[in-house]
Amino acid sequence: MKAVIPAAGMGIRFLPMTKDQPKEMLPVVHKPTIQYVVEEAVAAGITDILIITGRGKRSIEDHFDRSFELECALEKNGRERELAEIMRIANMADIHFVRQKSPRGLGDAVLLARQHVGNEPFAVMLGDTINLSAVPVVRQLMDVQGERGGSVIAVEPVAPNKVQDYGIISGKRISDRLYAIDDLVEKPLPENAPSNLGITGTYVLSPRIFECIERTPPGRDGEIQLTDALRLLQKEEPLYGLQFEGTRYDIGDKLGWLKTTMRLALEDPELGPPLREYLSDFIAEREG
Ligand code: G1P
Repeated sequence: MKAVIPAAGMGIRFLPMTKDQPKEMLPVVHKPTIQYVVEEAVAAGITDILIITGRGKRSIEDHFDRSFELECALEKNGRERELAEIMRIANMADIHFVRQKSPRGLGDAVLLARQHVGNEPFAVMLGDTINLSAVPVVRQLMDVQGERGGSVIAVEPVAPNKVQDYGIISGKRISDRLYAIDDLVEKPLPENAPSNLGITGTYVLSPRIFECIERTPPGRDGEIQLTDALRLLQKEEPLYGLQFEGTRYDIGDKLGWLKTTMRLALEDPELGPPLREYLSDFIAEREG
């Protein structure tokens, strides 16, 4: 299976940081966000990855490329651990790029993958969402898709005041964690939300989605929404929502990014203990 990582958004919620830097390159502890996403795909056995980029996103390409000067310098200085790590990043997967020329929405970005994907089911993994789980979330979706066919998207319950930040599904529960989706709404007002199950940003889609995107008119914010195209797809083919096992971190806004950075740093074996000490001293000092 191939994976498509849309990373063409303008990062408005992170300005001015994202004026000239992609949001997907925001560091979370010691790695850019998008590296976590690529690593999840690789852990699920996906090695052919298409990243949809746009203006000002060149550093994403450089990050996954070889860097001869840096490699030579590290080799000369005997920095073997660092050398191995940067070589690993460049060799991790077969990564391709295509540019979205104007920001016309997530659906439009996914449509640009059509030629690369061909006529097979494929994964879509948003470039600003980190999943940490024993079994990669995308693998959990691939397994359901393998058994049942159709398309499968990751969902999780969201707080009532957060439904307007997500695509929300409604459906019939068919097993412990699986829903047969019968409707989807992109970022509804709480009073119009059909449930509290939010789309978290990992999808395994049938190639039929491309035709559906083509038939999708601009929706919320005047953009071609993937959620609206999924609504058309659901009328033609089975569409499932899987409440996956694992934790999802949304790097899409400042607070989400701060919380993720803090949590992953606290879990890091080297950084965790001194950071914990620093934080408890800091809080004790503040509270007098
Ligand atoms: C996108 C999707 C939305 C989904 C969300 C997950 O929105 O359109 O359906 O719930 O990702 O992060 P965005 O966050 O790009 O505005």
